[in-house]
Amino acid sequence: MRRRNCVWAAGLLWLSTPACATDAAVALLADGANPATTDAMLRNLATLARTCDWARRYDVIVFHEGGAAGDALRPRLAALRRRTGLRLRARDVSDVFAAPAPAFVDRPRRRGQRTFGLGYRRMCRFWFSGVFELEDVRNLTYLLRLDTDSELRCRADSRDPFEVMARRRAIYGYVAVKMDHQRVARNLTAFGAAYARRVPQIQDAFFRFPPNAHKNCPAPMFYTNFEIMDVSWFVQPRAVALARAVDATGQIFASRWGDAPLRWIQLALFASRTDLVCFGGEYDYVHGGRQDRCDLSFNLTARGCPIRESLRAARLRGAAARVAIQREDQWCYPVCSQQPARH
Ligand SMILES: *[C@@H]1O[C@H](CO)[C@@H](O)[C@H](O)[C@H]1NC(C)=O
Ligand SMILES: *[C@@H]1O[C@H](CO)[C@@H](O)[C@H](O)[C@H]1NC(C)=O
Ligand SMILES: *[C@@H]1O[C@H](CO)[C@@H](O)[C@H](O)[C@H]1NC(C)=O
Repeated sequence: MRRRNCVWAAGLLWLSTPACATDAAVALLADGANPATTDAMLRNLATLARTCDWARRYDVIVFHEGGAAGDALRPRLAALRRRTGLRLRARDVSDVFAAPAPAFVDRPRRRGQRTFGLGYRRMCRFWFSGVFELEDVRNLTYLLRLDTDSELRCRADSRDPFEVMARRRAIYGYVAVKMDHQRVARNLTAFGAAYARRVPQIQDAFFRFPPNAHKNCPAPMFYTNFEIMDVSWFVQPRAVALARAVDATGQIFASRWGDAPLRWIQLALFASRTDLVCFGGEYDYVHGGRQDRCDLSFNLTARGCPIRESLRAARLRGAAARVAIQREDQWCYPVCSQQPARH
């Protein structure tokens, strides 16, 4: 209801209303265990404050775990708040963060290989669903999530993202669409496809789940280091039911299903194309490079499909390769591919 009133206000008083969605917030999750990450986060917040006028109109919430790291963070946030005028506050999320981690063994990082520890997997669950379990978050209209290494700079013509969301009545804002590697998306597309068969199809879906997805399909994802969510949509029973079903698989912990491809699935199941707004290009946004791929279409055959990889590994050539590729056409392309999306 609040949002509807807000849209009315925006319609009638667009020029004089500084921000209708005043109960929106920017949110980040501090990584207490890593001082370099915290330094980067504080620098990026200072940049946000310096270049985006709108940032001072909303709360900026820094979620953190308890203990010594949390205690060390609070005075630094207070100092940044004084210096920048950002409405910064720290929020201990230990309870939600320490969700059960079934069947997960935290292995030490191996040389030259990126591994994802328990903290990373908890982060995935937190952003996918845990954050909406927080009562103060449930009271917000919109939440703009940034990562500690998200560099968001406004240009002179960059708009207030919450005003854009409200005016468009959007439920999700993103900057880029990508593909997650099959190694960390094991059976995720199959899970989404199976779930899609059990729920009513929504109108004007932006993604059609392949009917018989192989467990080694890569997974499309919204690049969630920048995302804006209409909170009321994400606390709806159907979104919560999906989150519980994901929890029940245990795969966030066992396979490191990420919040990014999970977000894609959630929106693909329940949102229409017109519910999405792409902010790619609206800001100077950097996260491991510039991010602005708005296009929602995919060919899931790309790289991830297993036959082509095993073909290379086995150095198959000639007739043997042709047979294998034929097999790929038969089961890899159809199982991993999506019909090209309509625009
Ligand atoms: C959330 O909103 C309700 C109703 O307005 C209020 O009673 C409650 O105190 C709020 N909770 C938090 C944590 O802000
Ligand atoms: C993959 O997901 C499907 C659908 O949820 C499930 O039926 C199947 O058992 C899963 N396969 C593996 C290997 O986990
Ligand atoms: C997907 O593949 C088709 C056919 O090869 C091609 O025309 C199309 O541009 C591809 N789309 C994307 C997003 O790569």
